[in-house]
Amino acid sequence: MKPETQAIRIQTEQTSQKEHSTPLYLTSSFTFDDAEQMRAAFADESDDNIYSRFSNPNSQELIDKMCALEGAADGYVTASGMSAVFASFMALLKSGDHILSSGSVFGSTHTVIAKFLPRWGITHTYADMNKPEEWERLIQKNTKMIFVETPSNPGLDIIDLAWLGTLAKKHSVILNVDNCFATPALQTPIAWGADLVTHSATKYIDGQGRVLGGIVVGRKDLIQEIYTFCRSTGPALSPFNAWVLSKSLETLSLRMEKHSENALKLAERLQHNKELDWLKYPMLPSHPQFEIAKKQMRMGGGVITFQLKGGIERGRKFLNALKMASLTANLGDTRTIATHPASTTHAKLTDAERMATGITPGLVRISVGLENSTDILADIEQAIHHSK
Ligand SMILES: Cc1ncc(COP(=O)(O)O)c(C=O)c1O
Repeated sequence: MKPETQAIRIQTEQTSQKEHSTPLYLTSSFTFDDAEQMRAAFADESDDNIYSRFSNPNSQELIDKMCALEGAADGYVTASGMSAVFASFMALLKSGDHILSSGSVFGSTHTVIAKFLPRWGITHTYADMNKPEEWERLIQKNTKMIFVETPSNPGLDIIDLAWLGTLAKKHSVILNVDNCFATPALQTPIAWGADLVTHSATKYIDGQGRVLGGIVVGRKDLIQEIYTFCRSTGPALSPFNAWVLSKSLETLSLRMEKHSENALKLAERLQHNKELDWLKYPMLPSHPQFEIAKKQMRMGGGVITFQLKGGIERGRKFLNALKMASLTANLGDTRTIATHPASTTHAKLTDAERMATGITPGLVRISVGLENSTDILADIEQAIHHSK
């Protein structure tokens, strides 16, 4: 079966009620018929569910679907994207290890790598996503993991996954890819050599801005370590959120096609707008890694970024002039969302820190929704015009 079909057809075993849609297993723990069955479950001699911090049928359905979509051997689901990222670090890295990543990662991921990992003796180096020729030289003897986001949030930097997969194999380093922006509907990093794929399921996987969730899938031996870490430390996804996310996967590929179509239309329309210094979208020939994007992504995804002329104040005026797009910190929703990082999420950083993470004063990120593209274009264009 094709992955889109599996995302619809993989389902928890039907109960005696003969339900068509998977029921919600809202239970903390599971019962056993006798002491021997319980002993065997605790001894890992059976797959019986024990406790929802370890496993739950709703979580397992979501894991099975994500493994089918990403082409992964195994997975684990967590309460948020950040707990998935954190678990993938804590389960696999130890004091004395080094992680190679880049400044082009989500803000909280940067905080974990730069602020918290050093507390446990794990060091890092940031390489430039736009200078792949520098990456190999930055791999150290103790480098254990390479962690990248492609496309990155919010800069939409892209890195060649086939090349990075080969580099990671050559140096026996774990390649961990945050696939949040593309989703497996548009890009499957394992096919290019990644060992692990992490997700904020809060974004496109939910797709309607309702629940938080995180997913990590990949090599069985690595997932086993992550499972062991999570089973004891407790970042488990709630069964309710797993149920919502599993249902959402049924429409992921359709939604990602429409997000990408709408975003491409908006990007093509705005790319020559005189009020913008530049505009970035993976599937525009002007994107610095357009050729790589075409090779490894089926479509460009739903996020575009642009730089408004006029700095921070212009960005604030633009947000105020929007009539339909939502002002909110999320992305990957059916509803179009606009954010201005310099005056909001990254406002506490110094100018130098903002520039180092690619947050220029007039940078605007649009998460293009599923509304009719005419309405999206009209709202963004009128807001650019009225922010002058
Ligand atoms: C690329 C990326 N990774 C991870 C996260 C963290 O996910 P969550 O908010 O679900 O913890 C985000 C959130 O915006 C993200 O954009």
